[in-house]
Amino acid sequence: MTIIVTGGAGFIGSNFIFYMLREHPEDRIVCLDKLTYAGNLSTLAPVLEHPNFRFVRMDICDRDGVYGLFEEERPDLVINFAAESHVDRSIEDPSVFLQTNIIGTSVLMDACRKYGGVRFHQVSTDEVYGDLPLDRPDLFFTEETPICTSSPYSSSKAGADLLVHAYQRTYGLPTTISRCSNNYGPYQFPEKLIPLMIHNCLQEKPLPVYGQGLNVRDWLYVEDHCRAVDLVVRKGGIGQVYNIGGHNEMRNIDIVRLIVHELGRSEELITYVTDRKGHDLRYAIDPAKIHAELGWLPETRFADGIRRTIRWYLEHRDWWEPIITGEYTQYYEKMYGNR
Ligand code: NAD
Ligand code: TYD
Repeated sequence: MTIIVTGGAGFIGSNFIFYMLREHPEDRIVCLDKLTYAGNLSTLAPVLEHPNFRFVRMDICDRDGVYGLFEEERPDLVINFAAESHVDRSIEDPSVFLQTNIIGTSVLMDACRKYGGVRFHQVSTDEVYGDLPLDRPDLFFTEETPICTSSPYSSSKAGADLLVHAYQRTYGLPTTISRCSNNYGPYQFPEKLIPLMIHNCLQEKPLPVYGQGLNVRDWLYVEDHCRAVDLVVRKGGIGQVYNIGGHNEMRNIDIVRLIVHELGRSEELITYVTDRKGHDLRYAIDPAKIHAELGWLPETRFADGIRRTIRWYLEHRDWWEPIITGEYTQYYEKMYGNR
């Protein structure tokens, strides 16, 4: 198979490419990535010379470019990881989120239609379901939970999901959608909760916890997500949605404390700051469908995954230090300077 993986220079996409080249050496992977602030070609350095891998710098919204690439590669499958992915940035400026996450997804699906016989997988998020109350631990997101978004980011992802549904229904495009909970692991951009707390801790900088730190996220090790997507694209039912999550709910404050203790720093670094606007309270996935239909279960326990992740950041300063000393410094000042 020839598989186009978009957004492969980002966090989950790069982990997915490593996984696929290892698990399916017979497949050819073509990575299409714009290399925005969140994309990093150095992440893909270990596979750039791989005989079954090609990197193409391109915007998924570039219709002519995308059609040209399809003409050349004639892919069997497209897996769309490319997105603007940070909620806080979407609150500052939604426009690029609408462009990439919605328009870009439609361009990719138009290319699939034009060239025919291409299966399309949309990597979506549990955030399309909105949030759950903190005092109802019995409630979980199922695939039937209504879409009800809170942020411009989640709304743009929901918009894309609805388009995928429409392209399947209207044009018969063979599509699948996966909606995963929060990922953690190597190569996550330093603006997200876990890497941000790790690198701030290492620099003895304040650890900015939004609100009271009581919001709950359902954390999954990135490789478990990659394995789930691989299963869905090979064995998932056409037109189906699959939730992916490992029943691993944690309050933000508990994650931050855990990182502080693992790194042997003081809890005095923890600083409560102004809450995120529209901050979702709790995410929690019910993964019964993907377990029952495709046999997927998470393999990495959080206690192991978080230690592995912290160790990875300790051993890969050469990956994240150039990022946090570049344009990220202006981002950090803007977002946290007066918070
Ligand atoms: P990321 O921000 O780390 O990476 C996004 C990648 O997409 C980058 O390499 C970037 O250069 C590329 N990109 C952005 N705009 C592009 C465009 N217009 N054209 C081509 N490439 C473009 O994101 P991530 O955390 O790896 O998330 C990947 C996908 O998984 C996203 O679709 C996201 O919505 C979804 N997701 C993420 C999580 C999570 O916890 N990180 C959870 C569930 C779902
Ligand atoms: P984040 O990693 O941005 O993922 P998402 O918003 O998609 O869940 O944030 C995870 C949680 O951590 C979220 O509840 C917001 C919170 N948070 C902080 O408290 N401080 C921070 O500096 C960041 C980036 C996030």
